[in-house]
Amino acid sequence: MTMTGKTHSATAAAAAAAALMVSLMVSATASSPPMGLSGCVTRCGDMEVPYPFGIGPAANCSLPGFSLTCDDDGDGTRALRLGTLQVMGIDLYNATMTVVHSGDINISAAGSDASGGYGALFDSGGLGDDDGPYRLGRENELTVLSCNTAATLTNGNATMSGCFTLCDARYGSAGYPLSSGCNGVGCCRAPIVTDLEVAEGKKQPAVYGVQMRWFGVNRSADLQRGPVHVLVAKQGWFDGQFGSDVLFSHPPKLARMAVPVWLEWEVAAAAPGSDDTRDCGAGARGGYTCSCSVGYQGNPYLPDGCKDIDECEHKEEHGCFGQCNNTQGWFQCSCPPGTQGNHEMPGGCVNSSALKSVV
Ligand SMILES: *[C@@H]1O[C@H](CO)[C@@H](O)[C@H](O)[C@H]1NC(C)=O
Ligand SMILES: *[C@@H]1O[C@H](CO)[C@@H](O)[C@H](O)[C@H]1NC(C)=O
Ligand SMILES: *[C@@H]1O[C@H](CO)[C@@H](O)[C@H](O)[C@H]1NC(C)=O
Ligand SMILES: *[C@@H]1O[C@H](CO)[C@@H](O)[C@H](O)[C@H]1NC(C)=O
Ligand SMILES: *[C@@H]1O[C@H](CO)[C@@H](O)[C@H](O)[C@H]1NC(C)=O
Ligand SMILES: *[C@@H]1O[C@H](CO)[C@@H](O)[C@H](O)[C@H]1NC(C)=O
Ligand SMILES: *[C@@H]1O[C@H](CO)[C@@H](O)[C@H](O)[C@H]1NC(C)=O
Repeated sequence: MTMTGKTHSATAAAAAAAALMVSLMVSATASSPPMGLSGCVTRCGDMEVPYPFGIGPAANCSLPGFSLTCDDDGDGTRALRLGTLQVMGIDLYNATMTVVHSGDINISAAGSDASGGYGALFDSGGLGDDDGPYRLGRENELTVLSCNTAATLTNGNATMSGCFTLCDARYGSAGYPLSSGCNGVGCCRAPIVTDLEVAEGKKQPAVYGVQMRWFGVNRSADLQRGPVHVLVAKQGWFDGQFGSDVLFSHPPKLARMAVPVWLEWEVAAAAPGSDDTRDCGAGARGGYTCSCSVGYQGNPYLPDGCKDIDECEHKEEHGCFGQCNNTQGWFQCSCPPGTQGNHEMPGGCVNSSALKSVV
């Protein structure tokens, strides 16, 4: 869990994580606090759409940039979309979102052989180049299948990732030598760096693309070993595809596969004040993100959206085996009147007079 823009100590963060897990378990059973503004639709199929997200252009149901569509896909299923990207999950707690796009990145073989071509990410829309709330998250990676190429992932002028693939003649033309995994021979991968020093203090666009450069000797021989595939996907996703026929079927299935990508988001505005119930802090790009304080749950982006958790409903999970008294943000535990001992363990509170008679 990332506590964006905040300076929690390790223990506080651990407590928050524990409280969050408990609150998630509790919210499954107890009546959940509202996730959207009143009068706004907050579901699309089985997906919850919490504010600041909203469905459609309905006034005031979402914050700028957070308007999604809920499309009827014809076969009775509904798909939540951000532009053409399908939204698979929204996480309010760490301000992330999983979307899928279709297939690998289309590299256009423009210019000379050596230029290798360029491909835009999300070229079919979605993030835009304005002050939109989204950016490619750090939990993605770049994967490149090819022979003798250098690939660079850029956002505007900033370089976010890059790697080299090499192949030598002894592998022949029987496909990429993938047996050793994606280690630089026929395939390379690299993590994505988002907090670039070069980008610090500058508003970053969200115009992602991959620039390829080819440096081999015989291009047709390199291409014979397999087509160039460039992917930006959730870390580890491509590992699951090795050994399957996604690359070598004709046409490659990869081109039609749903590829998951992590996006990070933040509200593009000045942070509202924090109070006892919620914490709002500066995000990485001049906006803000919020979370409910420890002991509260709900939607921190709604006014008064974080509600006190009644820890006493599940007091044993909070280590209370005595009399539990819920308070705003936390709870008190004590042995009931007439008993004494340790209220933090089962059976720890014992009858005071029984105790006296023993002594
Ligand atoms: C965000 O939370 C989800 C589940 O709550 C988790 O799977 C994911 O790894 C988290 N991402 C980050 C960037 O912390
Ligand atoms: C949306 O909110 C603004 C400001 O709070 C308000 O002036 C406007 O009437 C609202 N519009 C609708 C349709 O509720
Ligand atoms: C890839 O890009 C080229 C050039 O822009 C275009 O002609 C082609 O249809 C695209 N292919 C796919 C599968 O989108
Ligand atoms: C990118 O670089 C060009 C040339 O150095 C510069 O003119 C332009 O302002 C830069 N764009 C951004 C967004 O930094
Ligand atoms: C390049 O490779 C192709 C296919 O393997 C081969 O037919 C061709 O002769 C090679 N060209 C040169 C200049 O080596
Ligand atoms: C529970 O806590 C509240 C707030 O501290 C206090 O006012 C109240 O008297 C307590 N109730 C019991 C039964 O201890
Ligand atoms: C404690 O024990 C005494 C004597 O056995 C009994 O009268 C009393 O009800 C008990 N109190 C509680 C709180 O169990």
